[in-house]
Amino acid sequence: MPTDGTIPLLQVKNLKRQFNVRQLGSRENGVLRAVDDVSLHLEAGESLGIVGESGCGKSTLARLIVGLLEPTDGRILIEGGDIWASGAAGRERRRKFQMVFQNPAGSMNPRRTVGASVSEPLQAKGIRKTAEAVERMLTLVGLDPQMADRKPHQLSGGQQQRASIARALIADPAIVVHDESIASLDISLQAQILNLLLDLQKELGTSYIFISHDLAAVQAISHRVIVMYLGEVVEASDSTVFASRPLHPYSQALRNATLLPDPIHERARGDTLLRGDVPSPINPPVGCRFHTRCPLATDQCRKQKPSLRDTGDGHLVACHFAGSSSQTQVVSEGVA
Ligand SMILES: Nc1ncnc2c1ncn2[C@@H]1O[C@H](COP(=O)(O)OP(=O)(O)OP(=O)(O)O)[C@@H](O)[C@H]1O
Ligand code: SF4
Ligand SMILES: [Mg+2]
Repeated sequence: MPTDGTIPLLQVKNLKRQFNVRQLGSRENGVLRAVDDVSLHLEAGESLGIVGESGCGKSTLARLIVGLLEPTDGRILIEGGDIWASGAAGRERRRKFQMVFQNPAGSMNPRRTVGASVSEPLQAKGIRKTAEAVERMLTLVGLDPQMADRKPHQLSGGQQQRASIARALIADPAIVVHDESIASLDISLQAQILNLLLDLQKELGTSYIFISHDLAAVQAISHRVIVMYLGEVVEASDSTVFASRPLHPYSQALRNATLLPDPIHERARGDTLLRGDVPSPINPPVGCRFHTRCPLATDQCRKQKPSLRDTGDGHLVACHFAGSSSQTQVVSEGVA
């Protein structure tokens, strides 16, 4: 958070989203806590990366932030104003967000031309003359403006994703949320799109929320990173600090899973790789939710929930032992 008293562009406060679901083998409805008391902030022109295993709540959080899903509890403020305020004020604030999804074809109507799909956010604002803006936007994302007349299936995967980025940016949103937006592209295209996003951010000053399973991509694009586990934030820090010294055992395990195998340290690395499956978010473990998989878990972890605390310079960690000597020992043995 800014220390000079200015309001961050985006503030998410104690956000919760629950789903009522039928539990397997039971007639009872269970409450699935997909996003459970998440708070975060994002400054103008910056990027926030969100990482975590499948099912930890990243997409639900993304859909809540852009206003596609209503929260069970908590608030989302843009420039200090609630996106769920009643009437025009709330609607206007929700228009400041756009989303880019994993499947670019899915975000464009197959029957409409690329130009018509790209212009939709402008039309939603009541702007009728859109041809010039579409041409400018397609050029900005590195596409031939003549592609505006084509149908989505006539574009390659990379071109389709560039067109969905053009669509997301055309109405000058404050924040674009990317939910695995590069996941379906091959490696060289992923690098191209990441570079494009960085260039566009410099040019337009748009803020990004970037969700990905790819830690390297998240670190390349993000100023700050948050790690989610079973609906909660377990670590949040500057991206460079996160890359060199993640403190939560779960973050360390995620990062170790991406390191290249090293025969000398393989046995020690095994201690810090992720074991077992993610428990059900319907009945998450009591105490620390990660205790069933954590190599450092103690009785305290099984009983007492760790709070998300600042270990210095805004590096937040939810672990009883983050930064302690016992943790440092395992980390250095595992990663060396
Ligand atoms: N509409 C829904 N109804 C019931 N449960 C839901 C719904 N949407 C999401 N969930 C559940 O909420 C949890 C979080 O799902 P979410 O899609 O947010 O995870 P994710 O981190 O995006 O996963 P992935 O990496 O696989 O995309 C999961 O257990 C999921 O099954
Ligand atoms: S609180 Fe305990 S179980 Fe949770 S991450 Fe820290 S050491 Fe592991
Ligand atoms: Mg998802």
